Amino acid sequence: QDTDRDSLFSLNDFARKFYVNTLFETEEGKAIGLSYFLERGFREDIIRKFQLGFSPTAWDTFTKTALQNGYSEKYLVDSGLTISKDGKHYDRFRERVMFPIHNLTGKVIGFGGRILTSDKTKPKYVNSPESEVYNKSKSLYGIWLARNSIVARDNCFLVEGYTDVISLHQSGIENVVASSGTSLTTDQIRLISKFTRNITILYDGDPAGIKASFRGIDMILEQGMNVKVVLFPDGEDPDSYARKHSSSDLEGFISNNSDDFIAFKTRLLLDETQNDPVKKARLIHEIIHTISLIPDPIIRPLFIRECAEIMQIAEQTLMNELNKLLRKKK
Ligand code: CTP
Ligand code: MN
Ligand code: MN
Ligand code: MN
Ligand code: MN
Repeated sequence: QDTDRDSLFSLNDFARKFYVNTLFETEEGKAIGLSYFLERGFREDIIRKFQLGFSPTAWDTFTKTALQNGYSEKYLVDSGLTISKDGKHYDRFRERVMFPIHNLTGKVIGFGGRILTSDKTKPKYVNSPESEVYNKSKSLYGIWLARNSIVARDNCFLVEGYTDVISLHQSGIENVVASSGTSLTTDQIRLISKFTRNITILYDGDPAGIKASFRGIDMILEQGMNVKVVLFPDGEDPDSYARKHSSSDLEGFISNNSDDFIAFKTRLLLDETQNDPVKKARLIHEIIHTISLIPDPIIRPLFIRECAEIMQIAEQTLMNELNKLLRKKK
């Protein structure tokens, strides 16, 4: 029902202001939260733009304040801001720097909270649970601030994390959203496709993550989008790279290292086959499968040519395989 959604939006907005206020106006917030962001290199205007905050250390400061301000227990629990256990209430987010998550129109639908220490026994991020206003598989972090720039640049950068989005903005790149650590869904791709047909994925520099993302990328191709990828140096993510380099170096790195996805995947898998013919055959089938997902029949042969060159194999052989696969699909 609509009144439930309105109540959740209103409570989340109250929470956003509460966490921002705690960050800038309380001793604890300034000493622990604000200093954390500043030491990370986030500028104050960027902290304000993303409405970053801090959740107090005590067990139930937020819940108490919200109740005093007339917000009902029901919505506190439904939003996930309050956890109810054995008849007692406590705050989900405590002693964490807070990243509000917004929908396309800029309303707060949930939060991510990052731990400040390197305590490995606790999760690095705590996130809001799903609610009537927060559907994880349909949202993209940063979309409300990125949409105009995505249209203007006719491209969307896709990164893993909250801090990657924020750092890129600070470096002047605003057409960026994060999947927030989960694999991409068709709904998220559809959301991006309202604004552009072009996606550039900026990968954290570790091969395991890259291969895990291949399936998600097949889905992007299937929706007729063009996909490029940029692989960051080992151990770097876009945020850490942006912190060490100037804006123009970052822009340069991205444009010099943008690779079309199919060529990228082909090279990466080819490196692993090491002239083993069986492995190479499997690679060919895998790549042909990916190419077969592209809906535009004009584009498919172009990729066939590129892959044939990379793999040192006759174009016609790949074309025959592709046609076999396409006939099977009908
Ligand atoms: N994530 C999460 N829960 C975790 C770890 C990660 O929800 N326990 C999500 C967050 O959205 C995070 C993203 O996955 O931003 C990427 O994770 P990671 O690369 O580990 O974090 P960073 O964003 O790089 O954060 P930081 O630089 O602060 O370590
Ligand atoms: Mn990572
Ligand atoms: Mn597949
Ligand atoms: Mn990081
Ligand atoms: Mn990261």
